[in-house]
Amino acid sequence: MAISPPSERIWWNQPVPRTELVWIIVAFLWGLVMFFMMIYWHAAGEQNLSNEAYRTTPQAFAQKAQEMAEAYTVREEADIPVVHPPPDSDVYLIARLWQWWPILELEKDKNYRLHISSLDWQHGFSLQPVNINLQIHPGYDMVLTVRPTETGEFSVVCNEFCGIGHHNMIGKMYVVE
Ligand code: CUA
Repeated sequence: MAISPPSERIWWNQPVPRTELVWIIVAFLWGLVMFFMMIYWHAAGEQNLSNEAYRTTPQAFAQKAQEMAEAYTVREEADIPVVHPPPDSDVYLIARLWQWWPILELEKDKNYRLHISSLDWQHGFSLQPVNINLQIHPGYDMVLTVRPTETGEFSVVCNEFCGIGHHNMIGKMYVVE
């Protein structure tokens, strides 16, 4: 406690005790290990995505998603269009309070440019059960080149608290043959 002044006037120039010095070195070295692991694990872990981000606006992004949905909607589920865009195309996923829109239906072993952006707030894209996670910000177009490797129904869960409806912000994605 530093209520009274230190007894030594030059208090900051004391020798560092040996154990404290050892801990400082250990913590520093561990910090370096963790830092280089981030870079190493991006390649070796095959978990972190090589995503790109570009500036956009909610209006521009919503319009692109709308155009894609108008062109390629194949059915509806609970008022949300299920969109089956052609392989090698740009596909759009909107995050907004409190919904993922639309439901994308992609083909297995085909490539897509997946764009995700928010129209209002910060949301978290979490694809389950594969556990892919991305921060989704308004004004930024998050782009991923994706190639689905297994068929099935996947859940898109919002994992960034975004208000009263956050826990209901669950979307879907299909991968078909
Ligand atoms: Cu969107 Cu939580």
